[in-house]
Amino acid sequence: MAAVETAMSISDRSKARRSAFFGRRKGHALRPRQAELFDTLLPRLAIELARPAPSDLALLFPNPVDSVRLEIGFGGGEHMIAQAEQHPRTGFIGVEPFVNGMAKALAAIDLKNLSNIRLHFDDAVFLLEWLPPASLACVDLIYPDPWPKRRHWKRRFIQDESVAAIARILRPGGEFRFATDVPDYAAWTLKHLIRSSDFAWTAARADDWRRAWSGFSATRYEAKARREGRAPCYLIFRRTGDGARTPNDPRRRTTDRARDA
Ligand SMILES: C[S@@+](CC[C@H](N)C(=O)[O-])C[C@H]1O[C@@H](n2cnc3c(N)ncnc32)[C@H](O)[C@@H]1O
Repeated sequence: MAAVETAMSISDRSKARRSAFFGRRKGHALRPRQAELFDTLLPRLAIELARPAPSDLALLFPNPVDSVRLEIGFGGGEHMIAQAEQHPRTGFIGVEPFVNGMAKALAAIDLKNLSNIRLHFDDAVFLLEWLPPASLACVDLIYPDPWPKRRHWKRRFIQDESVAAIARILRPGGEFRFATDVPDYAAWTLKHLIRSSDFAWTAARADDWRRAWSGFSATRYEAKARREGRAPCYLIFRRTGDGARTPNDPRRRTTDRARDA
């Protein structure tokens, strides 16, 4: 368990910086095997933010990968692990500050012997700052903490600053994918992404946001939502720039249309 405490105290030192994490970091005590993986496997997979990022993120992985994706707040890792199994030639970076979630993901990575995952055990904000510009093909944010009370909305992960941070690290044409079962958070996210000139919402019909994207693997939060009769909402936004918006795209910025007229 030494690694858990060390990693958490490093994060405490950075509390002076703006953080987007407001949840708890620890739940029930880890089983001995989970604690052991914190000491053995996490140090091998953890991304060292103290060093500069490589210019090509593929270099973070031991085997060749064609592109790299990020999942923010992966919880128990169900979606990230399934994606990594489905796409062995893609590198995945997962970030999660909750000890018990990280422990579950470590156990699955170990069991399935996955070599295409790297991890960050802290607030995603610090990782977003570290990642090079235009370095990722996709960023996933699945069932983020909803913070339903109005006075807590400022704690939601989606804010203008985080939208800009995600835009910086996505390559043109890359995707930001978001899922929630909280209608108000879906509307909040749409509002923030639509007012960003860096993204275009890809939905053309209702089923595009009512149905999960291809390859989506449901997490425990999705299972709970469906059990309790809440309909999830899936939003995909494409990073614009360098021809990422098609000439007839009605979501193009007015300025783009005026320039091309
Ligand atoms: C509601 S849970 C959903 C977990 C997972 N995506 C799923 O669908 O099962 C939200 C997760 O986001 C994590 N989280 C919250 N703020 C975060 C932040 N600033 N950086 C990284 N993860 C964060 C929490 O620790 C928690 O595990």
